[in-house]
Amino acid sequence: MTRVDIFQELFLVFLGLGTIVGIIVVAYILYNAYKYRDDGERHPDEDLPTLGELPTGGTGGKKLFVSFFLSALIVISLTLWSYGMLIDVESGPEGPSEDALEVDVEGQTFSWSFYYENGVESSNELVVPAGTPVWVDVTSVDVWHSFGITSQRVKADAIPGEHDQTWFQADDEGEYLIECFELCGPGHSSMEGTLTVMSQEDYEQWVQDQLTLTLTLEDGEGEQLNETENVEVTVQDSDGETVGTYTGEDFDDEGALEIGVEQGDTYTVIVESTDGSFETTEDDFEIVDGPEESLQIGGSDDGNGNDESSSDGDEDGNGNEDENENETDDSGGEN
Ligand code: CUA
Repeated sequence: MTRVDIFQELFLVFLGLGTIVGIIVVAYILYNAYKYRDDGERHPDEDLPTLGELPTGGTGGKKLFVSFFLSALIVISLTLWSYGMLIDVESGPEGPSEDALEVDVEGQTFSWSFYYENGVESSNELVVPAGTPVWVDVTSVDVWHSFGITSQRVKADAIPGEHDQTWFQADDEGEYLIECFELCGPGHSSMEGTLTVMSQEDYEQWVQDQLTLTLTLEDGEGEQLNETENVEVTVQDSDGETVGTYTGEDFDDEGALEIGVEQGDTYTVIVESTDGSFETTEDDFEIVDGPEESLQIGGSDDGNGNDESSSDGDEDGNGNEDENENETDDSGGEN
């Protein structure tokens, strides 16, 4: 049972009982108003209580006792039942918890950041698979916010230094509004995000896209290179560990190389030529939102200001000679 189901059931039961009780009470009032209407005659009232005597309702207090007992029974069982339902809301959905998705939510003025277990990060868009319980761990980096998705009956305080956990399970694919439920500043009303619910299949594809650095190579004039046979690509993570080496054969037909990466880390991509047709080039890429990057080889010094893309080889002068061979006088003049 999802949160939506639970709150829907609570609402319907209270609405139903309230309606029944209301109908009984109003009907009984009308019945008595009619029964004891003024018909112009006087009736002796045997049940009229004397001073100091409790009214018994005519049957020795039985009516009074029954109505009190019934009311108490209804109120107590409703209370127990509601709290039982709310415990379900607190403790989360049944079933193995390893099926659940865990996402850390961070509020800041005035946006939301989402951090997934597998290293995926996204900003203002929470993507989840349909029919899967999602646990969110909500906090804030600055002032008090409140993470809310009305359509999923989700609300969790986002307070610096504190972590408020809650869950939801979206059964229907689609897009839902994420809002901030705590007045947090001038941008409060625009502190919105999107909850995107997709099929398990689409979700896995989305995660895969987020964890892929798509690399294409350009020549000195910014044209994409499709000739990649003589290329060797080495990828290092921020600790300098090599996470993968690729050759020209790993590039697809469109000249793109897909590299599996982790989000949030910075990767150094080193492109070497196996036949010496261009100098070794490297660049750093920070991985956010499934990047597609292009790396320029054989023209690293053409005034694009990207000094990271040149290697040590530049300093010994060989690089410049190589470039002059590859570039026309026009592009050199742009310096
Ligand atoms: Cu954040 Cu209101």
